[in-house]
Amino acid sequence: MRRLDGKRALITGAARGIGLEFARAYLAEGARVAICDINIDAAQKAAEGLGEGAIAVRLDVTDQASIDACVATVEDALGGIDILVNNAALFTAAPIVEITRADYDRIFAVNVAGTLFMMQAVARGMVGRGQGGKIINMASQAGRRGEALVSVYCASKAAVISLTQSAGLNLIEHGINVNAIAPGVVDGEHWDGVDAFFAKYENKAPGQKKKEVGEAVPFGRMGTAADLTGMAIFLASSEADYIVAQTYNVDGGNWMS
Ligand SMILES: NC(=O)c1ccc[n+]([C@@H]2O[C@H](COP(=O)([O-])OP(=O)(O)OC[C@H]3O[C@@H](n4cnc5c(N)ncnc54)[C@H](O)[C@@H]3O)[C@@H](O)[C@H]2O)c1
Repeated sequence: MRRLDGKRALITGAARGIGLEFARAYLAEGARVAICDINIDAAQKAAEGLGEGAIAVRLDVTDQASIDACVATVEDALGGIDILVNNAALFTAAPIVEITRADYDRIFAVNVAGTLFMMQAVARGMVGRGQGGKIINMASQAGRRGEALVSVYCASKAAVISLTQSAGLNLIEHGINVNAIAPGVVDGEHWDGVDAFFAKYENKAPGQKKKEVGEAVPFGRMGTAADLTGMAIFLASSEADYIVAQTYNVDGGNWMS
């Protein structure tokens, strides 16, 4: 018996990176998975690559009509949703004196409002079906404390931790567990973008920041998406039924709380 046999999962931002690795891990544990992403071409390729049990659905988490349509499509295709992973997010960095309101709005629309209104749309169906569910939000070590150049992203991830607490307390009466994962530094295309910001603002050579943060992790290297799948499977499984409103660090020892 696999840990997610018969379960139906919707993962946002799953066309690449951590979300795609979670999709692969959930499939291997017996779930069917909807890869939901604004980049539908990449999502379709990802679903094809994963094979049977994976579908791709277009989703823009900043657009309520897109959220409603995506959730309805996935519920229809899979017969319901037992697991939601709110993984889609954007990163930005700038000194306080250079932050633009447009950038703030863009980041909060995806990372915060996207997480909240995806939880709402999926939880409505879970409550209606009366079988509970699991919601996992992707926070970050960035949500645990501010960083000089990363104020907007850090604040957005602190908001994800807070939303996880409130939604967790609100939804547990329906048997819906809401928890979060706070990764540290995870290698992949996302971090290539982060590295470029630091190259600009800290005057570093491309790749230098990435090397430095990797060496600074107590474990001795950057994380990989695969390092996070154990926690993602656990929180989606019945083993986590008594866990409510928590955020777990999976970061090689970067943060202790
Ligand atoms: N990579 C890291 O070091 C790291 C560290 C801590 C936390 N995290 C968090 O983990 C999660 C996944 O990170 P990743 O490294 O795989 O990121 P990524 O940038 O590789 O992937 C993000 C995905 O989200 C999609 N997306 C962007 N905007 C969207 C929208 N409006 N609607 C739907 N989809 C959208 C993108 O197309 C992309 O496929 C994010 O929440 C991120 O903040 C990552």
